[in-house]
Amino acid sequence: MHKINIAIDGPASSGKSTVAKIIARDFGFVYTDTGAMYRGVTYLALKHQVSFADEQSLVKLIEKYPITFKQTESGQLVFAKGEDITDAIRQPEVTNNVSEVSAFPKVRAHLVKAQQKIAVSGGVVMDGRDIGTTVLPDAEVKIFLVASASERAQRRYKENQAKGIKSDFATLKKEIEQRDYTDSHRSTSPLRQAEDAVLVDTTGMTIDEVVTAIKKVIKEKV
Ligand code: C5P
Repeated sequence: MHKINIAIDGPASSGKSTVAKIIARDFGFVYTDTGAMYRGVTYLALKHQVSFADEQSLVKLIEKYPITFKQTESGQLVFAKGEDITDAIRQPEVTNNVSEVSAFPKVRAHLVKAQQKIAVSGGVVMDGRDIGTTVLPDAEVKIFLVASASERAQRRYKENQAKGIKSDFATLKKEIEQRDYTDSHRSTSPLRQAEDAVLVDTTGMTIDEVVTAIKKVIKEKV
């Protein structure tokens, strides 16, 4: 497979990162989780007591603590300057505030530039909300992954259970719907399907089935 770029967008917990990682591994491509970068800025704001409403100071944080990835045997690690923030960016306080931070045009402009740099030589599977529309409008393959809110909440609930984290299904579903609403209604690069993206509804599908469906699209396109 020559070094194409593959964009995978979709709402919260639609399984993007799980399938993107598998596809990247199988094709020998680099996986890039752009949500981790927006989460990183949100984490930095919490750590340095910067208001989520202060766009200028958020930008300063990005400049001072660049967010980068490191591929390891056991998966991808996320760093803010020297600090490993892989686990810290998954905490609920980050998840429930990231949409406010990611709505700022200047925050987006900085991170989009960094994401485009990662993909400049191709061979990248990138997941997010605006990859097909804004970050990589020329990506050879674009997938828009969706699933019902109930199923997405159910998957998150089971993941939490497996990790021993207590959660409430109704609250998880409400949080997912709230994040989707904010991400879809912001003025800069809202979550939406690119015109040339292929829609894959994963409701009721296993991970293997989703991966097979996406590989079929890739083979048809390249
Ligand atoms: O993918 P994940 O759920 O980790 O993304 C966290 C948040 O980051 C999203 O809810 C959204 O607000 C933001 N995001 C974004 N654009 C992207 C990726 C993520 O605005 N390309």
